This record gives sequence, C-alpha cells and structure tokens, in this order.
Amino acid sequence: MKEFKILAVIMALVGITYYGIEPYAHSVMHPEVAAADFSFNDLHNVDTKLVGNVENGKTLVEANCIACHAIDAAGHPAVMSNADAAASYGVVPPDLSHAGRIYDANYLANFIFDPVSAMHLQHKFSPDSGKTFPMPSYNWMAPQDIVDIVAYLKSVAVKVTDDKEGHKATFEAACGRCHNMKYAGFEATTPVDVIKAHMGATPPDLSQYIKSRGEHYLHSFINDPQILLHGTSMPRVGLNEKAQEDVIAYMEEIGDSKKAERNSLGIWVMGYMVIFAFLAYLWKRKIWEEVH
Ligand code: HEC
Ligand code: HEC
Repeated sequence: MKEFKILAVIMALVGITYYGIEPYAHSVMHPEVAAADFSFNDLHNVDTKLVGNVENGKTLVEANCIACHAIDAAGHPAVMSNADAAASYGVVPPDLSHAGRIYDANYLANFIFDPVSAMHLQHKFSPDSGKTFPMPSYNWMAPQDIVDIVAYLKSVAVKVTDDKEGHKATFEAACGRCHNMKYAGFEATTPVDVIKAHMGATPPDLSQYIKSRGEHYLHSFINDPQILLHGTSMPRVGLNEKAQEDVIAYMEEIGDSKKAERNSLGIWVMGYMVIFAFLAYLWKRKIWEEVH
C-alpha cells in the first residue's frame, strides 16, 4: 500500500512538471507566434483567377526577365557570372527554373507586379531611402500578362523528388542567393558582405537555425519576417506550403540530422525501462518472501 502512495505522489509531481511547469516555461521562452498564412491575401493587385496563357507568358519572359535571370530548365543560361551580377544588383537574381513550383501563384504574380510591397520591404526601399530595389516593378503590365508569365514559369518548373535531394534544390532556389549553409558545404550565390552592403544586415549561416529557432518560428518567419522581427531586412519569401515544408525539412536534415535516430531510440529506451521495472518487481518479491 505504501508503495502505491509513493507512486501516486511521484506521478502527481511528474504530471505537474510535464503538463504545468514545462508548457508554461515554454510559452514564456518561445511566445506563441502567428501561424504562417499561405493565402497571401494582403496582395490583390493581380487577379489570379484569370487563366494563364503559356505561349504569351513565354514571349513576355524572354522579352523582360532573362536579361537578369537564368532559367536553366528552359535553356536560358545566366548572362553574367555570379560575381558580376552581385556587383551590379547587390543580390544575384535567382535562376527561375524552380519559381513556378516553389512560390505561391498569388504571391508570384503580385511580386512581379510590385516586388518591394510583396516582399514587405517598403521600409528598406522607400522612395526617400535613396535605395532602389534591383528588380523593376511590372505594374505597367496588364494583369492578364502577369498571369501568363506565372503560367509559363509553372510550365517549365523543374520537378524534384520528395527527399533530401529535392529539399536541397528547394532550399537553394528559395534561400541560396543570400544564405550560406556551411554544414552542407553550400555557399550563397551572393557573397554575404555584398548582401550586407545592399540590405544593411548580414544573412546568417542557416546550418543550425533549426535548433536555435525551431520549426514553428521558422514557419512563421519565412512566411512573413516583419511580424516576428519588425524592421528586418530579410524579405518575405512567398513560398507555398509544400515548398516551405521542404526548406524546413532540409534545415533539419542538415542541422539536426540525428533527430529521426533519437526519436526511434525512444521506443527502445522505454522497452528497456519496462523490462527493468518487471525484473525489479520480481527481485522485490523474492526478497520479501525470504523475510516473511
Ligand atoms: C534588372 C534585373 C531583373 C529583371 C529584369 C527581372 N528581375 Fe527578378 N529579380 C532580380 C533580382 C536582383 C532579384 C533578387 C532580389 C532580392 O532577393 O532582393 C530578383 C528576384 C526575383 C524572384 C524571387 C522572388 C522571391 O520572392 O524570392 C522572382 C520570382 C523573379 N525575380 C521573377 C522575375 C520575373 C518573372 C521577371 C520578368 C517579368 C524578372 N524577375 C525580371 C532582378 C531582375
Ligand atoms: C534577399 C536575401 C534573402 C533571402 C532570399 C532570404 N533571406 Fe533570410 N535573411 C536575410 C537577411 C539580410 C537576414 C538578416 C536580417 C536582419 O538581421 O535583420 C536574414 C535573416 C534570416 C534568419 C534569421 C532570423 C532571426 O531570427 O534571427 C533566418 C532564420 C532566415 N533569414 C531564413 C531564411 C530562409 C529559410 C530563406 C529561404 C526560404 C531566406 N532566409 C531567404 C536575407 C535573405
């Protein structure tokens, strides 16, 4: 009977720690953040219910975009080396081979219409800041033309596998023009000091951010950095939900590669405890039998 009382006290204490103190401490150290919003419904300059025409999109992209952007998937190489592009633009324009797959279509259309407002970087590139964003706005284009461009980018987008290789491709397309990932041996296409000069802040190496910030923070942060870090230079990267999950999965695969192993080990540790508890019980019974 005494043992049961002790067990009850221990269980109560563990319960209070696990369900009370731990969640409370967690909520203080990592305050709840707004969930990522993949509707991008603050952007409505372009009506994305229009149906895109791939042929017209191809013509428009060839006339307007490939002077700066490579599209390897459609046979358009980069016109400049990364070093020259970094020097000219401050950020190397990304290869658009993945754009149609990774960006939310509404975000992408509105980004083409007005990049600075879609990225929530008005505070960095306001008219009186003296800084011009390196990509022009296409707000003079008819919404139908912009939707055609998006349709074309979707039609040429490279398909990737749903594994580490695919996650890597998504990470490099979405973040790789600004952020290093040292643990994966990856260097950003733009040298970070060039980004610093252009944007006023150094993009950190992302090898370990999955551990220091955690997955929830990253989900909200990528989706809209200004909410969590008001005034930051990091642009909103309008990824769709799948692409964003892949980027975070990759950060976990590089920065916390032992996570799956740790999780699978848990079952074995619990099994060990159960066997150990059973043996302890048998042992106790034997000792008491001898005493009585
Ligand atoms: C004068 C050069 C230039 C032209 C022309 C240009 N871009 Fe860009 N674009 C850039 C640069 C530089 C960046 C990177 C900006 C940054 O990250 O701060 C960029 C970024 C992008 C991105 C990434 C968006 C994101 O949220 O990460 C997309 C998509 C894109 N451009 C599409 C286009 C399309 C489509 C066209 C043609 C309609 C086009 N660009 C024309 C220079 C250009
Ligand atoms: C155009 C350049 C650019 C792109 C593209 C970009 N970032 Fe950043 N990022 C920055 C800069 C600059 C900072 C530093 C911001 C600051 O200190 O204000 C930053 C900061 C960060 C931080 C640190 C936030 C913190 O809490 O300290 C994380 C995490 C991050 N970026 C993740 C990403 C991910 C993931 C992607 C791709 C989905 C990405 N970034 C794409 C420029 C970029």
